[in-house]
Amino acid sequence: MADALKRVFQQAKEKKRPVFVAFVTSGYPDPEETVDILLGLEAGGADIIEFGIPFTDPLADGPVIQESNNEALKHKIDIDQSLSFISQARARGLKAPVLFMGYYNPMLIYGEEKLVENCKKIGVNGFIVVDLPPEESDHLRKLCTQHGLSYVPLIAPSTTETRIQHLSRISDSFIYIVSRLGTTGFRDEVDKKLPELVGRVRKYTNIPLAVGFGVSTKEHFQIVASHADGVVIGSKIVHVLKSAEKGKRAESVKAYASEVCGLSSGHKYEVDNMNVKVDQNIQNDCVKTDVMTADKNVPYILSPRFGEFGGQYVPEALFDCIIELEKAFVEAKNDPNFWKEYQSYYDYMGRESKLQFADRLTDAIRADKSTDPMNGARIWLKREDLNHTGSHKINNAIGQVLLAKRIGKTRIIAETGAGQHGVATATVCAKFGLKCVVYMGSKDAKRQALNVFRMQLLGATVVPVDSGSQTLKDAINEAMRDWVTNVQNTHYLVGSAIGPHPFPIMVREFQSVIGKEAREQMLKKAGKLPDLVIACVGGGSNAIGTFAPFVDDKDIKIVGVEAGGDGIDTERHSATLSAGKPGVLHGTRTYLLQNDKGQINDTHSISAGLDYPGVGPEHSWLKDTGRVEYVAVTDKEALIGFKMMSQLEGIIPALETSHAIYHAIQLARKMRKDQDILLCVSGRGDKDVDSVKEALPKYGLQVGPDS
Ligand SMILES: Cc1ncc(COP(=O)(O)O)c(C=O)c1O
Repeated sequence: MADALKRVFQQAKEKKRPVFVAFVTSGYPDPEETVDILLGLEAGGADIIEFGIPFTDPLADGPVIQESNNEALKHKIDIDQSLSFISQARARGLKAPVLFMGYYNPMLIYGEEKLVENCKKIGVNGFIVVDLPPEESDHLRKLCTQHGLSYVPLIAPSTTETRIQHLSRISDSFIYIVSRLGTTGFRDEVDKKLPELVGRVRKYTNIPLAVGFGVSTKEHFQIVASHADGVVIGSKIVHVLKSAEKGKRAESVKAYASEVCGLSSGHKYEVDNMNVKVDQNIQNDCVKTDVMTADKNVPYILSPRFGEFGGQYVPEALFDCIIELEKAFVEAKNDPNFWKEYQSYYDYMGRESKLQFADRLTDAIRADKSTDPMNGARIWLKREDLNHTGSHKINNAIGQVLLAKRIGKTRIIAETGAGQHGVATATVCAKFGLKCVVYMGSKDAKRQALNVFRMQLLGATVVPVDSGSQTLKDAINEAMRDWVTNVQNTHYLVGSAIGPHPFPIMVREFQSVIGKEAREQMLKKAGKLPDLVIACVGGGSNAIGTFAPFVDDKDIKIVGVEAGGDGIDTERHSATLSAGKPGVLHGTRTYLLQNDKGQINDTHSISAGLDYPGVGPEHSWLKDTGRVEYVAVTDKEALIGFKMMSQLEGIIPALETSHAIYHAIQLARKMRKDQDILLCVSGRGDKDVDSVKEALPKYGLQVGPDS
């Protein structure tokens, strides 16, 4: 199977012509035409077919392929259906080797063994998995080797020399070179630096190199072919399909393919994929495949995992950047001057934040008839809402911007849900004189309009994201697309304890100022440590920052509160840990809200900051080890918490925090009077008053006697 790929390259080499690798999304635009399209591509001169397996969150793809994924998903295209297309195409004479190309989660959920076995049975020759770098793919690659399938590595312009050597060693058929930084999409010209990039790779290997990203015309094809062994075309083919008339799509791609590769002018030769012996040189090189494991080849300093969770599931273009980031973080962490500098911004941030006894809330719980007279624990509030910009997000934003400065990045991008992280990022960028772009789902931009204007006032560019559910997950996809394009000068200031290693550890480190201060303050004010620590969980940054300094105190109960939306028995919630399953999204292995095909669900929460289908990987681990309990609180219950805190303590809390407030109240009722609850008030609720005003009547809740 991998041999068929090698044969194609070898035969093309003998004929002194390039290999044409054609990409098409499975089931796009119409499943009924897919088999014809595959045959049309081959008839037009395609030597290898990359068959795109659709995913809800194609974070390295540009608009054309994103749209084709969405359309295919509307037709319910999945792996089984894609296998069936290939099986039908083979039955009708398709000879070209086929690679499944896509993102990891659908393949993981399908089952890697089953996937490889079925691919072999049906005649799929291997895989290109955008967000599964070799370091994370030991298992899949071993299975491929066992079954004779190929796992094709990618090399990007940002890949370092050392890594090029590793990637060359693990290649078993050909290497896919991404010719430019950025997402997929056709461009006006071939990148001028292509010869240099190909030359860098050639130094280490004689394995065939296929170059893709941006190729669309015959002229591009010829330029790329003059440097590489193969030419990959994707977006342009998808675009041709989009523009073609229904029923004539196969003909259109055939015509385009034969024009672009020169078959129409008779330059191309027939290829007999099945009957060519493989050149010994290539054989030998390919046989030297190496299982590239995290331990062996990557210079990790910190462990990238929390049990089975975490890791670095990123497109190749980002890999070396996150390794550099980890190194910079570890150096900074061990450098007292870094922390001195961090603390020099405490006056600016409003640290340390206060710990306040919520006496009226505690009294109200004790006075409630449903509370046992012996019960009613004291509730203590860690007032992150009083920080500059109104939430805990500033703790992380200052830390990461100082790091970005250390590694010489001049442009900052961020995603935001509630807008609080966007505001914190825009604020620090104003303070440090850095360019700032914030991605925000357009649904969130509407419900958090005040924060959009705040970011703009602070000089940031806010980019509304219309794709997907138009919330936080889609903002992260778009920020990732920006990052793969601009990784050389840009730091992605991730706003929660999510994403690829080292972000979860880094964000925890900057946010754990919350728990460290609270510990000292509890000892001083309550004379003891709390019996229970509680915080809301979106991505999980305020929670992990509050929890981390208490995790080793086994007697202290820890509870994370997720957004239960309309209830976790409905489809409208964001309670990832309570109702999700492990998978891979946004660079990390963690619990996810997903369907049985590994497609990511749309989520709902009244609070934009909790409206996310994933969660930080450390929380997944804390859940599975049983150290932390995670519960879900509905929109309505959060509004009750919101109202009680506002009216009993004179603190209007963020809707995110309100979830934790509600549950803290329920727990306080069941705990003794001499017990203490530490509650992280992650942010203030000014941003939420419009949403609350709209939502209260829906639940039959009133603001006050005359409302
Ligand atoms: C006030 C507030 N609390 C909590 C969150 C949830 O984020 P995390 O779980 O990372 O703390 C947000 C996110 O925007 C927020 O604005």
